[in-house]
Amino acid sequence: MRAATTLALLGTLLAAAPALAQEEGKLPHVNWSFSGPFGTYDRAAAQRGFQIYKEVCSNCHSLKEAYYRDLEGIGLSAAQVKAIAASVTVPTIGDDGQPAERPALPSDHFKSPFPNEKAARAALNGALPPDLSVITLAREGGADYVYGVLTGYGEPPAGMKMGEGMNYNKMFPGHQIAMPQPLQPDQVTYADGTKATLDQEAHDVVTFLEYVANPHMEERKRIGVKVILFLAMLTGITYAVKRKVWSDVH
Ligand code: HEC
Repeated sequence: MRAATTLALLGTLLAAAPALAQEEGKLPHVNWSFSGPFGTYDRAAAQRGFQIYKEVCSNCHSLKEAYYRDLEGIGLSAAQVKAIAASVTVPTIGDDGQPAERPALPSDHFKSPFPNEKAARAALNGALPPDLSVITLAREGGADYVYGVLTGYGEPPAGMKMGEGMNYNKMFPGHQIAMPQPLQPDQVTYADGTKATLDQEAHDVVTFLEYVANPHMEERKRIGVKVILFLAMLTGITYAVKRKVWSDVH
C-alpha cells in the first residue's frame, strides 16, 4: 500500500514537471563554450562581449573587480589593452599634492560609471545597477539567468499592474525590472562583422561576464584533468604491484 502511494505520488510529480518547466521564468538552455569539464572561453565571443559591455552596459554598471590587464585573457594584445586603458582617465594626486587626472594603466581596475551608490540612484530614478564583476556567480542560474534577463523583455500580460518606470521581464523575479531593455538587435556594430542579433549580443556579453567572474576557470580545469589522469595511473600501478606482491601467496 505504502509503495503504491509512493508510486502514485511520483507519477503526479513526474506529470507536473513539464508543466512547471514551461512556466514563465524558466531558464533558457544556452550552449556555452565554457560549460563542461573541458569547456573553454570562446575568445571571439568574449571580445564581442567586451565591446557590448563597453558601449552599452558600462554606462550604468561597474565592473569593479576587473583590471584592464584581465582583457589579455580573452585574447587582446598587451598593446591593445594599454590603448583601451589609456582611453579612460582616473583620479590621481598631482605633483603639487592636489587631485588630478591621469590616463588609466593596464594595472588599474575598470573605471565605474558613477562615483558612488547615491550618484547612481540619483541618475537612474532611484534604481541601483548592481556591479557585474561576479554577477554570473551571484545569481541562481548563472550565465543562463543573465542571458534570460537580457532576452526576457516584452509586453506585460493583460491585467498585470506595472510600477512606474518598471519594465516587464519574464526572467527577472517578480517580472518587474527597473533596467530598461539594454540590448536591441543591431545595438552595436561588431568589429569582426558578426551579425548583431539580440541573441548574439546577449550570448556574447554573458560570455564576457562569465570570464570576468571566473578568469582562472580554464587553468583549473586543465589541472583537474591532469589530477584525474594521475590518479588513474596511480590506481593501475598500485593494482599491478599488489598482484605482484601477493602472487606467491597460495
Ligand atoms: C540605463 C542603465 C542600464 C544599462 C545601460 C544596463 N543596465 Fe543592467 N541594470 C540597471 C538597473 C537600474 C538594474 C537594477 C534593476 C532592478 O533592481 O530592478 C540593472 C540590473 C541588471 C542585472 C541584475 C538582474 C538581477 O537579477 O538583479 C543584470 C544581470 C544586468 N543589469 C545586466 C546588464 C547588462 C549585461 C547590460 C549591458 C548589455 C546592462 N545591464 C545595461 C541599469 C542598466
